[in-house]
Amino acid sequence: GYLAATANAGQLAPAAEAQTAQTVTILYGSQTGNGRGVAKALADKAQAQGYAVNLASMGEYNVRQLKQETVLLLVVSTHGEGEAPDDAIELHKFLASKRAPKLDNLHYSVLALGDSSYEFFCQTGKDFSTRLALLGAKSLLPLVECDVDYEAAAGQWHADVLEAVKPLIETSSASVVSIGTAKAIGESEFTKQNPYSAEVLASQKITGRGSDRDVRHVEIDLGDSGLSYQAGDALGVWFSNNEVLVDEVLVGLSLAADELVTLGTESLTLKQALLEKKELTQLYPGLVKAWAELSGSAELLALSEDKEQVRHFILKHQFADLVAQYPLTNSAVTLSAARLLELLRPLTPRLYSIASSQSEVETEVHLTVALVEDERHGAARFGGASHFLASAQEGTQVKVYVESNKHFRLPENPDTPVIMVGPGTGVAPFRAFMQERVAQGIQGDSWLFFGNPHFEQDFLYQTEWQQYLKNGDLSRIDVAFSRDQAHKVYVQHRIKEQGQALWQWLQNGAHLYICGDAERMAKDVHQALIEVAVEVGGLDTEAAEAYFETLRSDKRYQKDVY
Ligand code: 2AM
Repeated sequence: GYLAATANAGQLAPAAEAQTAQTVTILYGSQTGNGRGVAKALADKAQAQGYAVNLASMGEYNVRQLKQETVLLLVVSTHGEGEAPDDAIELHKFLASKRAPKLDNLHYSVLALGDSSYEFFCQTGKDFSTRLALLGAKSLLPLVECDVDYEAAAGQWHADVLEAVKPLIETSSASVVSIGTAKAIGESEFTKQNPYSAEVLASQKITGRGSDRDVRHVEIDLGDSGLSYQAGDALGVWFSNNEVLVDEVLVGLSLAADELVTLGTESLTLKQALLEKKELTQLYPGLVKAWAELSGSAELLALSEDKEQVRHFILKHQFADLVAQYPLTNSAVTLSAARLLELLRPLTPRLYSIASSQSEVETEVHLTVALVEDERHGAARFGGASHFLASAQEGTQVKVYVESNKHFRLPENPDTPVIMVGPGTGVAPFRAFMQERVAQGIQGDSWLFFGNPHFEQDFLYQTEWQQYLKNGDLSRIDVAFSRDQAHKVYVQHRIKEQGQALWQWLQNGAHLYICGDAERMAKDVHQALIEVAVEVGGLDTEAAEAYFETLRSDKRYQKDVY
């Protein structure tokens, strides 16, 4: 039938196609591996209960199969300003388009992953849920919205949804299962929940004296862990909170460091729990609200009820700031250790784009880490993981795992030219790209756009780029040192200045990569690209947008932005 004629059909086991009506189809869309993990765990449980399961990434799913589905279970995350993750974009669009079929026979449930410190919390999950309902599909359960500590809610959803599916689908012990499309990514015995204790080999400041930024080049030894990564992947880094910060919180709340507490099945001291288990350096809206109520601060209460204000507040404050600036001593409340631990979210690892290639550094992994630092009311405040890594000495243990990113990959054809836009620490994966291409003896042209405040202090990895240029491995580098002249110059200005050449590269099949700040930089760079397509390529704005949309779906325009 027509399924066989489509590009995606080959990835679905034929048995699963024929069996759709009796199959639980589980699709995931997520930028990191979290969505896949939740979906895979559900697939395993469903399979164990005797269901025929079809598990796939949304990006690999053939939308023409939708009409045949009986049960569709979706796990999808949300990014930036409520955007769908890359592998969900097509299905997300399709369901809102005129081409979407009536789905009267379909039962569905959506688990949305998100981060409540963003305004458009779980937006993509909400969209999927609304669109499926509009197409006539029946909801099995109310939408489940999960915050960054999603594990418990996801486990509950697994149980609830499989219960709800029971009357709809027959089970059999000889179920047909197609999990073939959900390829293992970065699979090793070490995972997010079971990280490898690696050793820090070096942590060196690479911004110069007098720089406004403190950027570290960190080298970590993966030893005999068997962990492997590809250029474009990220390293997940678990860290402990700063002891000074933990002590400040304990003193501020008049709690004893050595009080014994229980977390799950584990018994440990309160101090240990705050050092290792709880998030202290990132607030979430619910905590601001709870603290407003506990402290009885009218100011904080007013603020906590305004979404936009909370969003800004969270970017500039940590839990210790709440304790210091809105003390409980003003209210009659005393906070127990147990209640404190309930309020705080579990510590989550941070992801860093890897700055090295294993073709070059073998069992090492390199990171480019900007130390997040600030001062409030005389107290130093640091980013949790960046401070941990910046303070690490040779030999410090750090728990890590590899987070594969198949949406940020060098072209398969080595002769394909690449254009890399990586201001600030966004340059990290391009160091990996260049190491990889040079080690593989790759011929394709490479062009780097880099930007930072000052040439003198902030030209990250300057000597390496110069060496690559000299050897002809890097064809061009265009730099934008924003504060070296009266007016700001950013990478997007260089892109526009070089519009003619850039357009020519794109016409020659170049792949385009952007890494770094999502909020402003990636958007401004996208806008500059559109302008190049209009001014040089002669397209109208709509055609220019469509042009880059095509590049994106052809995997020639990839972003790693945060
Ligand atoms: P600035 O801090 O001097 O404004 C890396 O952080 C570099 O990105 C810095 O030089 C920074 O400049 C610059 N930058 C800031 N906003 C940007 C934007 N919207 N687009 C591109 N680069 C930007």
